[in-house]
Amino acid sequence: MSTPSLLILPGDGIGPEVMAEVRRIIDWFGAKRGLPFDVSEDLVGGAAYDAHGTPLTDDTMALAQDADAVLLGAVGGPKYDVLDFSVKPERGLLRLRKEMDLFANLRPAQCFDALADFSSLKRDVVAGLDIMIVRELTSGVYFGEPRGIFEDGNERVGINTQRYTESEIERVARSAFDLAMKRDRKLCSMEKANVMESGVLWREVVTRVGAEYPDVELSHMYADAGAMQLTRWPKQFDVIVTDNLFGDLLSDLAAMLTGSLGMLPSASLGAPMSNGRPKALYEPVHGSAPDIAGQGKANPIACILSFAMALRYSFDQGAEASRLEAAVEHVLAEGHRTADLLGEEGRAPLSTSAMGDAILAALDASV
Ligand code: NAD
Ligand code: IPM
Ligand code: MN
Repeated sequence: MSTPSLLILPGDGIGPEVMAEVRRIIDWFGAKRGLPFDVSEDLVGGAAYDAHGTPLTDDTMALAQDADAVLLGAVGGPKYDVLDFSVKPERGLLRLRKEMDLFANLRPAQCFDALADFSSLKRDVVAGLDIMIVRELTSGVYFGEPRGIFEDGNERVGINTQRYTESEIERVARSAFDLAMKRDRKLCSMEKANVMESGVLWREVVTRVGAEYPDVELSHMYADAGAMQLTRWPKQFDVIVTDNLFGDLLSDLAAMLTGSLGMLPSASLGAPMSNGRPKALYEPVHGSAPDIAGQGKANPIACILSFAMALRYSFDQGAEASRLEAAVEHVLAEGHRTADLLGEEGRAPLSTSAMGDAILAALDASV
């Protein structure tokens, strides 16, 4: 089989900093595990805007469509806040998701034992936590029409539209049920069927798909109550399926159950390509962290674990993905911490690259 291709889009802020560590890990798998990747790199977000006046060029879009997988750092930053909406860095990422049709966004939240005391919740509540949020990623209020800011009499009105078709709900529900079958066979669907018609349809379609999965215990929750339950007793959940906006909020919330936003990876998956691999983009859940960018403080683990997800979901290398996840768990257990994983302990934090060094050392020790 030919060498799989990986398109790397580091983006803005801490994106390039955390991606530099991932590149070393990719090289390690090539050199030490006989798993070479044909890696190319391009611009996205503010970096692409600075170079080309657009957050994603058509050429980069075409490269992403052709790649076996895409790995993205983060986009955005205060410098770009003044830009017109159509060229904001975030639009580059949204275009990738939409045009690659990456409808299922898998956002796992796992609490490593070594970090259980660091979560803002009690150890008992989070220790051993392992949940998977499946966020619909290509529709809903992020993309619905009409949208815009319009004149309305003597004032302006801002409009976004929550819109879901049955087939959009059905395909993401199926992804979530399939995942639940490989895990603890529990799926909780979250919407607001009490106030939104799109929520009524969501619940109806998920229930219908559920009939095909009699082994999965399906439950429904209003998303506001779901947020409350996620902080009260998150271990009641296995897989959660929800829409684009609720999924955005709930996955940031879930991040803090694990200790830091700097820990959470994600996989955005679409339909299988002709080679059988799903269209896929992997990225950390966090953003460009302008407050710490350029200082070597960022935690690279979310981005590194995103590459682990690529090994598992795009390249059929589940054992190597587990090797990388175990290396991360090992360095955390040994007490290695970037600044976001230290409280008021007065210890000197590791830099981004020192955390990369520690994970590479753990990988070396694993073979
Ligand atoms: P953010 O995730 O960038 O930062 C939130 C907080 O978490 C900050 O205090 C930051 O320092 C911290 N943090 C985030 N990642 C970290 C890491 N790896 N290590 C240590 N600390 C980390 O969210 P924000 O500040 O709301 O957004 C900043 C910019 O990023 C905005 O332009 C936003 O649109 C963009 N953003 C992009 C993505 C993406 O590219 N997928 C996701 C979220 C936000
Ligand atoms: C995320 C981010 C993005 C989103 C932005 C940057 C477009 O917050 O990936 O969670 O809202 O989906
Ligand atoms: Mn978000």
